[in-house]
Amino acid sequence: MCGIVGYIGGDQAAPILLSGLEKLEYRGYDSAGMAVYTGDSLQIAKSKGRLQVLHDLVDGGKKLPGSVGIGHTRWATHGKPSDINSHPQVSKSGKFAVVHNGIIENYQEIKQKLIQKDVNFVSETDTEVVAQLLEYYYKGDILDAFIKVISRLQGSYALGILCVDDPEKLYAVRKDSPLVVGLGEHENYVASDIPSILNFTRDFYRLKDNEVVELTRQGVKIFNMEKEPIEKELVHVDWDLSVAEKGGYEHFMFKEIMEQPKALRDTISPRIKDGRIVLDDVTLTAEQLKQFNRISIVACGSAYHVGVVAKYVIEKLTRIPVEVDVASEFRYRQPILDSNSLVIVISQSGETADTLAALRESKRLGARVLSIVNVVGSSIANDSDDVLYTWAGPEIAVATTKAYSTQLAVVYLLAIYMADLLGKLSAEEYDEYVRELQALPDKVEQALQNKEDIQYFASKHFSAKDIFFIGRNLDYAISMEGSLKLKEISYIHSEAYAAGELKHGTISLMEEGTLVVAIATHQQLLEKMMSNVIEVRSRGALVLGLTTEDNGQIEKDVDFLFTVPSACEIMRPSLAVIPLQLFSYYMASMKGCDIDKPRNLAKSVTVE
Ligand code: AGP
Repeated sequence: MCGIVGYIGGDQAAPILLSGLEKLEYRGYDSAGMAVYTGDSLQIAKSKGRLQVLHDLVDGGKKLPGSVGIGHTRWATHGKPSDINSHPQVSKSGKFAVVHNGIIENYQEIKQKLIQKDVNFVSETDTEVVAQLLEYYYKGDILDAFIKVISRLQGSYALGILCVDDPEKLYAVRKDSPLVVGLGEHENYVASDIPSILNFTRDFYRLKDNEVVELTRQGVKIFNMEKEPIEKELVHVDWDLSVAEKGGYEHFMFKEIMEQPKALRDTISPRIKDGRIVLDDVTLTAEQLKQFNRISIVACGSAYHVGVVAKYVIEKLTRIPVEVDVASEFRYRQPILDSNSLVIVISQSGETADTLAALRESKRLGARVLSIVNVVGSSIANDSDDVLYTWAGPEIAVATTKAYSTQLAVVYLLAIYMADLLGKLSAEEYDEYVRELQALPDKVEQALQNKEDIQYFASKHFSAKDIFFIGRNLDYAISMEGSLKLKEISYIHSEAYAAGELKHGTISLMEEGTLVVAIATHQQLLEKMMSNVIEVRSRGALVLGLTTEDNGQIEKDVDFLFTVPSACEIMRPSLAVIPLQLFSYYMASMKGCDIDKPRNLAKSVTVE
């Protein structure tokens, strides 16, 4: 996720911008830059890579002497990480410099119109359209041009802008992307979050969507889109800095769990236009799709568990046979692939060594590779024929939550898209799936509201030594993820088992007090699942049931029940996983584990 810092005051801006950007490093980034007024011109310094590269480029700030500037750390979305794609983005004549967080959904449309007006674009970013459009609309009043530009933009944005014509002002705005204004003595700031400038000020304005800010050394004016001034309440903060970096939460994992509704909205909504799924980034045609006689899914860890969900969903909707492999097995099992095979690779980091090797092996054998990746410009994204990005933003905690959820969302989008291309869905079914997809972020938000019940349950059971997760069909796929999450961060041994398979082995482990989490969201398999619950309870197990609101009748058959909002069958995993993530989190928290950095684990496994 990108970061913004802006400064106008009496001190040198560049060192302040570097210090603020350092505090935003935790959000993840792949390039950094800044623009500072020096004399009567705007000087830009930007570079791909770590902040240290920018730091060296400007000699700790010494090379940029001005006292008004904007700085940025970029997490690539549109266009790979590169010097040119880094922010600030600058307009044609160099008059405007812009830093941006978020995604401009209609940037292609604006870009095409500007190209027709002879505007040349130098970067692949969506942000450059803001800089170019500002210059296009500018007729001598920066605020007028800025408001006009904002009214053209769709999507999410936090923007900081400077214009050569008025070196005494800095402008900013936000919509669906955070931005705060910090106030000092004859100096003022904008920033993506409070902690990044907490060393300089403790007085803030929290901006609402489309409130436009004009900062000078003397003060801050805030306007609505009609250019009418707005009065805002000043907020004084006295938080501890380390807590503040995690958005006030104790751990990144919890923060990321809570960010899931937003991550889902960012992933789903730009891909639904006028009720149709539009996957701009996929070039597969119906003819090509019909040629595939099989689909292979390859991934590791949680991404593999998404693959297991995908197998059920894609087969159900498209009737194309799907196989799923963990990448470390796939690469050495001499997979049978050719040009009639589609390989779907799933990876948050896009750098997992086993997954990358499996991708390369697939390509060597002639298969077409479509990847689902979170990190733009990563090795897996670069080597794939088609890439569908998850817009989860950077994930810091080792245990994945929001990346996993957005991968599921992309799987639904892709499965419905492919089924439609193949003519497997009626118009009613298609519309219903699209409605369900659009409703998903709100439902996940609702599911997150019952966290205290889960916390209470965890407080009673965190000393458990073994926990079993059982389910059937998609609920089995979710059991795997629930079990892995628990093992990873709480170090409690656990097994995920297909409920119908219990009697072939695992049931011998059931004894008085054994904790079993039974996931029972699948309507048609509910009775069968409850028979398995009876089997384990009659051997002394304590059963925590997890189901959807419409299956509340199973309460009498379990010891405890958590419910989540209902959804169409294929999307229930997205809801069932929420209490499981929270359960693992609270269990680990009660045990005092190092939740964000569990022992022996790394976020990105780039070795075999
Ligand atoms: C999940 O919580 C894990 N940290 C791990 O299983 C992870 O999903 C796996 O290593 C794959 O990583 P990737 O998605 O970056 O390829």
